[in-house]
Amino acid sequence: MEQQILLSDIAADTLRGLSANPKYLLSKYFYDDTGSSIFQDIMQMPEYYLTGCEFGIFTLHKQQIAESFHEGVPGFDLIELGSGDGLKTKILLQQLVSKAINFNFYPVDISLKANNELVESLQRELPFLHVEAKTGDYFHEIKKLNGYSGLRKVILFLGSNIGNFSDIEINLFLGQLSAVCHQGDKVFIGFDLKKSPDVIMKAYSDPHGHTRRFNLNHLSRLNRELKADFQLSNFEHHADYDPVSGFTKSFLISTKEQTVHIAALEQSFHFAKWEPIFMELSRKFDLGTIENLSEKHGFVVEKNYSDPWNYFVDSLWVRE
Ligand code: AVI
Repeated sequence: MEQQILLSDIAADTLRGLSANPKYLLSKYFYDDTGSSIFQDIMQMPEYYLTGCEFGIFTLHKQQIAESFHEGVPGFDLIELGSGDGLKTKILLQQLVSKAINFNFYPVDISLKANNELVESLQRELPFLHVEAKTGDYFHEIKKLNGYSGLRKVILFLGSNIGNFSDIEINLFLGQLSAVCHQGDKVFIGFDLKKSPDVIMKAYSDPHGHTRRFNLNHLSRLNRELKADFQLSNFEHHADYDPVSGFTKSFLISTKEQTVHIAALEQSFHFAKWEPIFMELSRKFDLGTIENLSEKHGFVVEKNYSDPWNYFVDSLWVRE
């Protein structure tokens, strides 16, 4: 009888991705503790405009945003999917706390380290805030959202994390959000917008080496967790942007012909010279697409908050 080996999620996804043609790896595995910390470095690069734009939107519109979260209800549950270091969210949290608005904060992140650091900093900075962090994958955590306090839900999904999803994943994700939301619940989603390709390329083509480190860390993770033998110096990072689809794609390119063995999969993978591994999609949107997505999943756009350059939008949707 053929023996069945039970693979972990990362092992099964890696096997599928490296057996495909063209090869790919899933960007959700970027975020181990090291990857989450490299992403903090990326967010601090001046060229990575997304963070600064969203920070500016929150700073400029915090009063109106905070009011729209609690208008018409005695209190609400604020749930942030992919909370990371919570830098931008803290602007809203401070605003809500300063107005003595009744709410609970539930940050959800895949990194336990990021969650612990966020909770610790919030206990210091906003000691009266009710905060309860959840560690896990958003897709799993969304299913549990109805188990919270039963107040209005306001779900944050910031930073254009939605841009890292394929079309299928976007529809699955928004479908699940829609299913856990009741009438009047709100979602607040950050979308990076289409803009000059030059601006986009500067953010992703690695002016300081952080994006290269971010991608290569995925291979280090496979070396460590799946006992792979990737030689990191045999891969280079490459990004490109298609202004028609709005797709920014990142690749690691094999600079030589090589074979990589992954002991946990009991398998070797051959790379031709210059063969790419597709590592990440960072999609850029337009306002028409955002409105169509909201309608398709049973929401209406209450308001789009944008920065002065119209680079980025935080779109507030209400469940119909
Ligand atoms: C987390 N996500 C929205 C980032 C993005 O812009 O797609 C991840 C990233 N990849 C390279 N730089 C930043």
